[in-house]
Amino acid sequence: MSDHPLILGIETSCDETGVGLVRGCELLGDEVASSVDQHARFGGVVPEVASRAHLEAMVPTVRRVLDSAGVQKEDIDAVAVTAGPGLAGALLVGVSAAKAYAMALGKPLYGVNHLIGHVAVDQLEHGPLPEPAIALLVSGGHTSLLLVNDLATDVVSLGDTVDDAAGEAYDKVARLLELPYPGGPHIDRAAQRGSASALRFPRGKWGDGTYDFSFSGLKTAVARHVEDADRSGSPLVLADIAAAFQDSVVDVLTRKAVDACVEHGVSTLVISGGVAANSALRALAEQRCAEAGIELRVPRPRLCTDNGAMIAALGAEVVAAGLPPSPLDLGTDTSLPVSMPLAV
Ligand code: KG4
Ligand code: ZN
Repeated sequence: MSDHPLILGIETSCDETGVGLVRGCELLGDEVASSVDQHARFGGVVPEVASRAHLEAMVPTVRRVLDSAGVQKEDIDAVAVTAGPGLAGALLVGVSAAKAYAMALGKPLYGVNHLIGHVAVDQLEHGPLPEPAIALLVSGGHTSLLLVNDLATDVVSLGDTVDDAAGEAYDKVARLLELPYPGGPHIDRAAQRGSASALRFPRGKWGDGTYDFSFSGLKTAVARHVEDADRSGSPLVLADIAAAFQDSVVDVLTRKAVDACVEHGVSTLVISGGVAANSALRALAEQRCAEAGIELRVPRPRLCTDNGAMIAALGAEVVAAGLPPSPLDLGTDTSLPVSMPLAV
């Protein structure tokens, strides 16, 4: 056994109750209870439903992770929890639970940043992250490009979406195409049968000299295409629409991510978040990174979506950096800036 401290990580920023156990870069346990099915008929996460589900799932999920790792709760050295960004009520459940565990066990509490957790988790699969690295976070809630100089102390935001997140765009377009929620995997599968060149949709903020993203114009273009086809009675080729939409999203994401690496002289790119499971994004990122001599690191899909291991992984970094624990009156911050790996 290594001498790294054993970190319990708790994640409740959205609709997944995640609890993980990590030592250094070693993943010991990772249990997730999701309320996604309860949100499906609304086509998006309902915050109050998510909070209630976290309350019910918290204690059983902690028990499951301890059992699966064969660890006693007394063995835990520190408790890390998502302090933000995320849904207010959902975050409160996790932070309250983490405080209770920290206090009961007499161990330090660390309130950490969800976004940076998505990057830190890669260390559990690929080992220590070369720093600096560029990270592209793409999920239902965020689309961010980050310059990671140091996971625990120095992360800089290079750009963000100015409207919808990438996953949100997938979910909204899936709805237009009458595919189930969450729509990302359905569009991904449909796109594999279609031709991306059959249609040409706009590429938001393409070549605008920033690292920001925009997907609402693309979504509107798809909506207009569907309406026009309805009106004229022409057949809708769902696979082609999915392929052309996906081509627009992954083209802009990978182009800006590679440009950021080149501009900052960085040779490692991490892609994480639920949309990192996308087959076209992975393929195009691999191709463009290989052309530019950049090492691409994409955690396995299970670690890309929200989970507690990512919070424990960042907690381990923060502890290793010798940062002071958070106070027990730690609050939640629904828009915690990425410049703050550790909340104060
Ligand atoms: O990270 P995540 O599980 O939750 C948060 O939003 O934080 O990401 C969920 C998002 C959803 O919008 C879903 O449609 C999208 O990730 N997603 C995908 C794929 N799998 C999940 N999007 C595109 N292609 C996929 N294969
Ligand atoms: Zn997330």
